[in-house]
Amino acid sequence: MDAHKQLTIGLFGFGVVGEGLFKILQQTPSLKASIKKVCIKHPGKKRDAPDELFTTDKNILLNDPDINVIVEVINESEPAFEIVSTALKNGKEVVSASKKMIAEHLPELLGLQKQTGLSFLYEAAACASIPVIRNLEEYYDNDLLHSIKAIVNGSTNFILTKMFEEKLDFQQALLLAQQLGFAESDPSLDVEGFDAVNKWTFLLTHAYGIIEQPDNIVFTGIQNIQGSDAAVAAEKHFDIKLVAQAKKLQNGKVAAFVLPQFIRHDDHLAFVKNEYNGVVIESGFADKQFFYGKGAGSFPTASAVLSDLSALRYQYKYEYKKLYHHTPHELTNDFYVKVYISFDDWSYVPKDRFEWIEEWHAENDRKYLVGVLAFEELRKNSWWRENNTSLILAPETIIEDVEIRKLKKKSLELAGIV
Ligand code: HSE
Repeated sequence: MDAHKQLTIGLFGFGVVGEGLFKILQQTPSLKASIKKVCIKHPGKKRDAPDELFTTDKNILLNDPDINVIVEVINESEPAFEIVSTALKNGKEVVSASKKMIAEHLPELLGLQKQTGLSFLYEAAACASIPVIRNLEEYYDNDLLHSIKAIVNGSTNFILTKMFEEKLDFQQALLLAQQLGFAESDPSLDVEGFDAVNKWTFLLTHAYGIIEQPDNIVFTGIQNIQGSDAAVAAEKHFDIKLVAQAKKLQNGKVAAFVLPQFIRHDDHLAFVKNEYNGVVIESGFADKQFFYGKGAGSFPTASAVLSDLSALRYQYKYEYKKLYHHTPHELTNDFYVKVYISFDDWSYVPKDRFEWIEEWHAENDRKYLVGVLAFEELRKNSWWRENNTSLILAPETIIEDVEIRKLKKKSLELAGIV
């Protein structure tokens, strides 16, 4: 596609993101992009656009030779995959925001990109307005990317901010996130961490060349976090955030997960409130870099779609450099994590599986401990997210295999046990 070519768009979906894009394109005539047709599911809905723009027949868009770009911003993952794969096979470039679909179908989507040589861009699918995919893809050489710590879900961050800073209850905060267009149509995808882990799977591909199904990555959401956890956090001068993390360990493999975490007030992520997202990257020589911006909502998400459309004008494609041009990294579960766990009853917590326990508090109805666990324990078992049990990672949570013996000895000495 050359820089002067008109982009004639077939748009799938006219919800929060689709309508946002429609409005934004009206304000950016310089892009020479126009929407020819919009495919929608429910024709009866009142929409602020001319009736003749809409159809419910996907083939009208997919088979129109004038349409050279398909923008797919619908909710359901399987229909989205069907649209995207047909569009690519029909010779159209594709821009998508369907994170669940991308996470679940990445191997097939990589194959289709190779087979067709066409662009498939999805900057809007992670961290909305923050250009995180293109940055991870283009800027960081494989060996230099030590770690990434990120808030990638706007709704849960919004809910935590409203609950703990403005004292709204969970339901009120969630309702507000829904009204503002941040939450998924099924908000349990946000609240229980599915949306964040979906985004994390393909961010790991662009960062480290890792291809993994979302259900192979340990994750949970904010569903079990209690008022008492927030009180402990406040006492310790921490915030609680849902954090997606990846760290290259000394053995060259990558530790990765999406879990609630205590965040120190001077951590960059503590600055990330409401629907904002943030990404802290640690690299070899640059030390820390912090990317910050709106992670959900109509215009912020549509702005990333717009940027992808603009990139199509100069044939931009993801090269998946870390996957194809470097040796891809492997995930590992061979490390330890320092965790805070609160629970209603001791019988729910297998105390003997901890490497050591640093603190325990049994005096109140809601009890808690701070201790160190093999990460494998979290991967293999689910007691830590059952029975109303709440797990929150400590700030510097990852302990490498090589350090564990020394640290265990030190902690036992401090406790006066050896
Ligand atoms: N529900 C998503 C979020 C929308 O809250 O982050 C943006 O991907």
